[in-house]
Amino acid sequence: MTYTVGYIVGSLSQKSINRKLALALTRLAPPELHLTEIPIGELPLYSHDHDHDYPAVAQEFKDAIKASDALLFITPEYNRSIPGALKNAIDWATRPYGANVLNGKPSAIIGTSPGPISTAVAQQHLKTILSFTNAPVLGQPEAYIHFTKGLIDDEGAIQVPATAEFLTGYMRAFTEHIRRHHDISHL
Ligand code: FNR
Repeated sequence: MTYTVGYIVGSLSQKSINRKLALALTRLAPPELHLTEIPIGELPLYSHDHDHDYPAVAQEFKDAIKASDALLFITPEYNRSIPGALKNAIDWATRPYGANVLNGKPSAIIGTSPGPISTAVAQQHLKTILSFTNAPVLGQPEAYIHFTKGLIDDEGAIQVPATAEFLTGYMRAFTEHIRRHHDISHL
């Protein structure tokens, strides 16, 4: 069985190290997973004034989530939380009331930072948010990737074998998480 995974990069930067990590994960993913990006950079700021007439870009964003079997959030930590752009995207995904496309969507969170605790606090915040949206989030393994110069090359190859092995195992665990939730929802 193959699964489509929409991945969301929390950074809007052209030079994003989390986008580099995303590329690496697409290379390491098992063949059952088909990863495609769901972009968030063109979404306007959410307001519930839009709820009765969603802009096309926001509707396309929601449709892409709906069409995915699972979601992978690859995010930096900004000021010990998630970037505003990512929170904005999640707000669009959950509205209007009763039309939350994150409901029941198997998800996983990963991120990288050069900082010593490497996105751990942002990931905890994101878990809290996703828990409220009722998206089942992979609990283990946790993946706080400490970014160092040269860790990932421009083609997305991980240059440290232990990190490559860890990330391969992470993507396998995510696949199992998706399979479990898929099987439960098709009982
Ligand atoms: C950061 N950075 C950062 N790093 C961290 O580990 N914890 C933090 O709370 C913050 N806070 C923070 C706020 C803002 C506004 C910026 C721009 C940066 C540093 C951050 O990890 C680094 O810039 C990464 O390169 C960001 O990831 P992307 O955007 O390159 O994927």
